[in-house]
Amino acid sequence: MLNIGFVGVGGIAQVHLRNIARMEGARVAAVYDINTERANEVARQYDCKAYSSLIDLLDGEKPDGVYICLPPFAHGETELEIVKRGIPMFIEKPLAAEREPADQILQAVEEKKLLTSVGYHWRYSDASDAAKAALAGRTPGMVMGYWLGDMPMVGWWRQMDKSGGQMVEQTTHIVDLARYLLGDVTEVYAVYGNRGMKEIVEGVTVPDVGSITLKFASGAVGTVSNSCLLDQYYTVGLNIVTRDLVLEVRRNSFTERRKGEARTVQNSSDPYYVEDEVFIEAIRTGDASKIRSDYADAYRTHLVTVAANESAVSGRPVQL
Ligand SMILES: NC(=O)c1ccc[n+]([C@@H]2O[C@H](COP(=O)([O-])OP(=O)(O)OC[C@H]3O[C@@H](n4cnc5c(N)ncnc54)[C@H](O)[C@@H]3O)[C@@H](O)[C@H]2O)c1
Repeated sequence: MLNIGFVGVGGIAQVHLRNIARMEGARVAAVYDINTERANEVARQYDCKAYSSLIDLLDGEKPDGVYICLPPFAHGETELEIVKRGIPMFIEKPLAAEREPADQILQAVEEKKLLTSVGYHWRYSDASDAAKAALAGRTPGMVMGYWLGDMPMVGWWRQMDKSGGQMVEQTTHIVDLARYLLGDVTEVYAVYGNRGMKEIVEGVTVPDVGSITLKFASGAVGTVSNSCLLDQYYTVGLNIVTRDLVLEVRRNSFTERRKGEARTVQNSSDPYYVEDEVFIEAIRTGDASKIRSDYADAYRTHLVTVAANESAVSGRPVQL
């Protein structure tokens, strides 16, 4: 039985906690959260121990793996303490609110050759598999991605220094999917704006509209736009244009458009469960080959979104 620890047990942690609890051969063994009330409640729910410090959890429990489900600004010490002890870790995206401390953590992870997985769960969806298969042997020309919806109402999200803004925090999923399907990005240029949320919600320092243009190493180009200005969830996805096919990857489906013909397939598996299963299996076997986003790969996505933030300030394209 693998004993799994959790650091940060807010919103997204509930998904991973549920998945681990229903998985054979793994159990939720211990939790830690600076919100002790929340940690105690989760510990009661999963019949495990709530620790009052990260170090006590790591040294007291000696877990076989740890899930880190912290807000972007809170990363750093947690990862470095876990890496020091050589414990495999799953980190929810994004790696940080800025470039630091992700670069320092990457160096530590590489020195230790640590098993890591990052929560870019779109990579594990049936829609992504279908897009990968459709692109084999084809030349992708361009991508158009978007994340258009309402503003998440957790306090840290609306503060630029805490979340990194929508491109770093949320639309990173779409940038990562574009990298997964088209390969690395070599240049990014961004324009951001504020079109209302600062007046509507107190304490907003993140832009509420933004677009980036991307150049890929392959020669493909693309745009990704996001907005959190809406009073409703609208749409999230990535479209890819090739000579004879347009591919539409959505949260729950994949559509393939040929001349005069369209075919849509709904996802039949839960990508969150698949990514958790793959991480647990990798701990068990020591074989990380099925992990689709490790720390080093996720870092390259993080660099694109952080560079977009830099470009939006400087008004110049950033080479990667
Ligand atoms: N992959 C996905 O689909 C997905 C979905 C939602 C959120 N996320 C990501 O997960 C991360 C967490 O988001 P959330 O919505 O769960 O946030 P949240 O605010 O609901 O939960 C974060 C938890 O971390 C705790 N915390 C903060 N600092 C801490 C520290 N130093 N040590 C221990 N605990 C600490 C908080 O008390 C809180 O309980 C974010 O980076 C977010 O982008 C990913």
